[in-house]
Amino acid sequence: MPQDNKKVDMDKIVSLCKRRGFIFQSSEIYGGLASCWDYGPLGAELKRNIKNYWWKKVVQERDDMVGIDASIMMHPQIWVASGHVAGFSDPLVECKACKHRFRETDVNSKTCPDCGGALTEPRMFNLMFKTFMGPVEDEASIIYLRPETAQAMFVNFENVRSTIRKKLPFGIAQVGKSFRNEITTGNFIFRTREFEQMEIEYFVKPGTDVEWFEYWVKERFNYYVGMGIRKENLRLRAHEKDELAHYARACFDVEYNFPIGWSEIEGIANRSDFDLTQHAKYSGKNLDYFDEEKNERYIPYVIEPSSGVDRTLLAVLVDSYDEDIADNETRVVLRFKPSLAPVKVAILPLSRNAKLLPLSREVYEKLRPHFATQYDDAQSIGRRYRRQDEVGTPYCVTIDFDSLEDNQVTIRDRDSMQQARVPIIEVVDILKSKLQE
Ligand code: GAP
Repeated sequence: MPQDNKKVDMDKIVSLCKRRGFIFQSSEIYGGLASCWDYGPLGAELKRNIKNYWWKKVVQERDDMVGIDASIMMHPQIWVASGHVAGFSDPLVECKACKHRFRETDVNSKTCPDCGGALTEPRMFNLMFKTFMGPVEDEASIIYLRPETAQAMFVNFENVRSTIRKKLPFGIAQVGKSFRNEITTGNFIFRTREFEQMEIEYFVKPGTDVEWFEYWVKERFNYYVGMGIRKENLRLRAHEKDELAHYARACFDVEYNFPIGWSEIEGIANRSDFDLTQHAKYSGKNLDYFDEEKNERYIPYVIEPSSGVDRTLLAVLVDSYDEDIADNETRVVLRFKPSLAPVKVAILPLSRNAKLLPLSREVYEKLRPHFATQYDDAQSIGRRYRRQDEVGTPYCVTIDFDSLEDNQVTIRDRDSMQQARVPIIEVVDILKSKLQE
């Protein structure tokens, strides 16, 4: 089992991510760009595995869900109808001396946390990024980078319903980038201005919404446990009435016990019929649902489980991080669930001796079509095991001189460090069954 979270500080995670190619500061050679991060070779794999895991659980394995992949730039009226133009704002205060800006809710006094200077009165600051579409930069060409993926599901409700011919309840899912000009960012990838969301809009008959809301709250909590995140590091927190967004009747956050404290990774909201009603009003299109069994029309209610890719990834990294002792040294190991691990199998010839090369390459080529596989022959075998442990590779396959005689290789398990000798002819099937969850 991974160690207690309290021993994992964010600096260790940030430094491991950089050292091993999970996450780099964006634009680093130019001095970096605040709150922007680039996923490196292993981070890109981990991120893709997290998105694939979500898609498998919420779309592929369910009868009542379909996915879309919508445009990031949308008609500007959508953000008027949704309430974002008028109300998607945070109260901002500015230090009169150093000019640093803060979210009013992040500062506890009337003075600047950085220099002690006096702060201005709060003013509302809209979090949407604006840009212009087309060659003319005037009011009429303003558009926004979407601050959430959700609205694309609402405005495509009728398109999707009429093409898939599903009856309520059903849901539309989407994974994609969102942008918010956050006043304060930080804590690595926890709060950034460009991030990815995995959102579900689940359409239900009014009157069944409370039941479906409760269903999704449980479902989403169990999803994180199923991902391998320890239950004791997860909790549900109900929003107080004064915390609820303008559209929400009820909301629960799934929180993770990060090194920075308990913080949200997903929000599950009962959005009532707010969104479809607004879009029907502003677009002039009828977004009613006709219930054939009851012979009645109504605007569906929506339950929205909305998760962040980057925050989930951070929770997975923190939860998987462990240190133990191997060969009298501290070993850092990421105990990822196999489906999330960026590399599933590493092929490690015992040495760079030319005699081992052909068979090692042969085993490598045999495994590659089945698993994300890495070939590593640099440095001592012990160091290579450590390197693979540190990036969370569940299995290493070692080819030694005996392999040339007996056609067997050694499979080493990341967690137990146990080794087993297996025939090369069976290695794909054995690894398949080991990697199955
Ligand atoms: N459609 C509802 C919605 O967007 P939200 O609580 O604002 O709800 C949902 O966002 C999730 O998106 C959050 O739980 C978080 O995981 C992620 N998220 C929101 N803002 C973020 C930011 N600035 N940086 C990283 N992730 C963010």
